[in-house]
Amino acid sequence: MHFNRIKLINYRNFINLSLDFHPNLNIFIGDNAQGKTNILEAITVLIRGNSYKNIQDKQLINWNSNFSLLSGEIKKNDEPYEISISLEKERDIKPLEQQKITKIIKVNQTIQKKSSLNKEFKGVFFSPEHLQIIKGSPSLRRKFLDEQIYQIYPLYQRYLFEYQRILAHRNNILKKYDDIKTIKENLHIWTPQLIKRGSFLIYMRAKFLKKMDYIANNFHQQITEGKEKLNLIYQNNIIKDFKDEEIELISNKFKEKLEQEQKREIEYKTSLYGPHRDDFLVFLNHINALFYGSQGQQRTVILSLKLGELEIIKEKEGVYPIFLLDDVMSELDEKRRHFLLDLILNKKLQTFITSINLDYFNPEIIKLGRIFKVEEGRALVL
Ligand SMILES: Nc1ncnc2c1ncn2[C@@H]1O[C@H](COP(=O)(O)OP(=O)(O)O)[C@@H](O)[C@H]1O
Ligand SMILES: [Mg+2]
Repeated sequence: MHFNRIKLINYRNFINLSLDFHPNLNIFIGDNAQGKTNILEAITVLIRGNSYKNIQDKQLINWNSNFSLLSGEIKKNDEPYEISISLEKERDIKPLEQQKITKIIKVNQTIQKKSSLNKEFKGVFFSPEHLQIIKGSPSLRRKFLDEQIYQIYPLYQRYLFEYQRILAHRNNILKKYDDIKTIKENLHIWTPQLIKRGSFLIYMRAKFLKKMDYIANNFHQQITEGKEKLNLIYQNNIIKDFKDEEIELISNKFKEKLEQEQKREIEYKTSLYGPHRDDFLVFLNHINALFYGSQGQQRTVILSLKLGELEIIKEKEGVYPIFLLDDVMSELDEKRRHFLLDLILNKKLQTFITSINLDYFNPEIIKLGRIFKVEEGRALVL
């Protein structure tokens, strides 16, 4: 999968930008605040239908404009696709926070939903902020897991939303009522549904982590020349020591747990057990990387996870996704940079890399790709 070109109109700090891409390696260099990350973000908007950042669509529109238009020509399995996304502010003047926008997504001139875009086109994004997957709270690791899984199994997202809705109802009952009999009667409605959807989530997360553990460790061994073994261990408060449990067993254990702990949940007035409390641990040579790993080791883990992500999507789709690397070159040592660039060139992945300058790339590699100098909302091919 690769983009031939994109065109951005009134998008962030670009008023009118057209870029023709290299099918393999594209490097954007430039000082801070020139628009390098904005270009990577635009590419993700074109394949996801929204920004990878947690922002509102209207922030993508140039400050001095009422509309923005992003378009791109992407090739997947030799089939060309035209993607276009238009964003337009409502005409009536309201305070900025209340202003709504209209978003229209088209693929080959036909209006499409965001979900059909996600289904067809995939990207793997890697930035220094991803270190939070290791250092941050369990909720960030759950988010990482969920995003990975629904890239591959779109149905997962629907089941996750349903689980969250059921969980909210169940928590509301535990919170609202004081009378035990009323609570029990109401839980009776929601608990079986929680178990049904929850068991599916647990099953999928365990399966995914097992696969990721295998693939990412493989990369990790290569990057560290066999010095470090990477292990991802699923943490779930229904089944300890997760092996290859089937859905039926998971749901039986889930049911048992909720029956055993009903008193406790009533006392604490919230749902204490289930995938909403999941986490996973990252071990390097059997030592917890969160507490004992150096910053460099943690970064390398993220690199291995991202490479794992590429392979898992490739396995499902038959083609590699687009690979986007924002400001990570300066964070890796020379050996690791080398490993990464070699891999990108060998696998013929379409890759977009941002960097302050070209110091991190050897001249041989530079010849193999296309370099763009980004400056004040323009990008020139060097
Ligand atoms: N909606 C917008 N309209 C105009 N400019 C924007 C908008 N959003 C962000 N910018 C500008 O884009 C610049 C940041 O670009 P960015 O891609 O993050 O830079 P970098 O090259 O450091 O990655 C900032 O100067 C910011 O003011
Ligand atoms: Mg940036």
